[in-house]
Amino acid sequence: MSWISRSPDETRRIAATLGERLLAERGGFVMTLVGELGAGKTVFAKGLAEGLGIDPDAVSSPTFVLAQELPTKSGSRLVHADFYRIEDPRELETAGLDDWLESDVFLLVEWGERFPEMLPADRVQIRIEPGDAPEERRIQAEAGGVDSNDLLEDWRKRCP
Ligand SMILES: Nc1ncnc2c1ncn2[C@@H]1O[C@H](COP(=O)(O)OP(=O)(O)OP(=O)(O)O)[C@@H](O)[C@H]1O
Ligand SMILES: [Mg+2]
Repeated sequence: MSWISRSPDETRRIAATLGERLLAERGGFVMTLVGELGAGKTVFAKGLAEGLGIDPDAVSSPTFVLAQELPTKSGSRLVHADFYRIEDPRELETAGLDDWLESDVFLLVEWGERFPEMLPADRVQIRIEPGDAPEERRIQAEAGGVDSNDLLEDWRKRCP
């Protein structure tokens, strides 16, 4: 499944639709964001947060902080993490990975592919790549299992 986004706003809108579906249907979820520096992972995270009823301005780039935790309007949590600076997976355990994998957490990880073995296989992976124009991005979503595949199907229907 893939989309072409032509602006940061469009990326946010696509992500917000996904966030709304997540809020409507799930108590928690795991998702990784993959793409080079400046691809738009944090822009996507802000949109997803918005869909979960969180002020997108509260979502910062956690590159210097491992993770930030934000309450959603349904009473669960968004944990926005960034594995860019992690060198050893044991750092994740110390930082509270077990807690982020609780069933009521929407876990969104930038650079999550750096330690895939630390995350459940049944997750959605979003890949963001540059397009032909400066503000163009190709957004691809892949499911790693049955549950994440269900979610992607539903998202595609709402964001064709
Ligand atoms: N279509 C688009 N979608 C998303 N961002 C875009 C788009 N077009 C331009 N941009 C710009 O690209 C930049 C993306 O920055 P962002 O911080 O989201 O990247 P990132 O992938 O999180 O990088 P990092 O790996 O450093 O965390 C922003 O300045 C944004 O305005
Ligand atoms: Mg970022």
